[in-house]
Amino acid sequence: MSPASKPISLTRYLIEEQRAGHISADLRLLIEVVARACKTISVAVGKGALGGVLGDAGTGNVQGEAQKKLDVIANDVLLEANAWGGHLAGLASEEMEHSQPIPDVYPRGNYLLLFDPLDGSSNIDVNVSVGTIFSVLRCPDGVTTPEDEHFLQAGRDQVAAGYCVYGPSTTLILTVGHGVHQFTLDREQGSFMLTQRDMMVPEDTKEFAINMSNQRHWEAAMQQYVDDLLIGKEGPRGKDFNMRWIASMVADVHRILTRGGIFIYPWDRKDPSKPGKLRLMYEANPMSLLIEQAGGAATNGRMRILDIAPDQLHQRVPVFLGSKNEVDIATRYHLEFDALP
Ligand code: AHG
Ligand code: MN
Ligand code: MN
Repeated sequence: MSPASKPISLTRYLIEEQRAGHISADLRLLIEVVARACKTISVAVGKGALGGVLGDAGTGNVQGEAQKKLDVIANDVLLEANAWGGHLAGLASEEMEHSQPIPDVYPRGNYLLLFDPLDGSSNIDVNVSVGTIFSVLRCPDGVTTPEDEHFLQAGRDQVAAGYCVYGPSTTLILTVGHGVHQFTLDREQGSFMLTQRDMMVPEDTKEFAINMSNQRHWEAAMQQYVDDLLIGKEGPRGKDFNMRWIASMVADVHRILTRGGIFIYPWDRKDPSKPGKLRLMYEANPMSLLIEQAGGAATNGRMRILDIAPDQLHQRVPVFLGSKNEVDIATRYHLEFDALP
């Protein structure tokens, strides 16, 4: 690569965003700290069996899921890294029942951080890509010791969101509300380097991502939509579709950001008390902001995810996101079924 085309570092990108007035110094520090934590997690993930990090932790989280060792390690890394910098007022995680204010011994800043420390846990032990997802909100004015209720803000109010994929390469995808940019970890230098500016999701697609084993539990609109995809050229869609399902949302969304597609985790009646599998605050919201910033769309099948007013920290939501025209079509199926007498 010639010197002229040498990529810039995440640090330089963030300084330039600060100079442009897009982010504050505290938000810059926050993103640097999250990126540093992701590097640490990447090293742990990369060691695999040699690091003694595979397998179950022997504990459960508030979601009723068995925790993997790496779920716990990644959560601890993010908590420790973000405790003392003075940029945050509090944080919340998939792995913790309640949010935590920053300890009294450290100064508190104006931001709230939410994260899924390790997404795709079922893929850890089989050496398939996993990742970290994060979302940044403002701490409401006048609140110095934030509690769960202060995190319950609509996704459109996020000031930054991103994810890191621990795959063949480690990539950080970030938005601060001015496009979506990809940074690749240079393992020799230990720096994230800007390798793609302004990622854009193609508007149309012939690829869908869904766990088909749940098909019999879906509602009628979903059944019809997927039947029409599967029937391909001979059906109302008039084209054949391809299917991919990695079972790590980070990896599935990364493919869609890179080459388009639709990612769906719909409501199903396996457990009617759950309105979906994925969590709104630290999975659906950050991914929806990234996808919208890249020109795509994200709905719960009926409305824009970023407009949902949350009422619980760990609330679940159906997710349809990706190529704009395909998400619009899937959403229309649901609205048309709803309108039937
Ligand atoms: P997590 O590992 O953080 O609990 O999230 C797993 C999620 C998501 O990454 C993925 O898209 C989905 O669960 C996979 O679900 P299935 O196992 O039902 O396919
Ligand atoms: Mn997850
Ligand atoms: Mn997780």
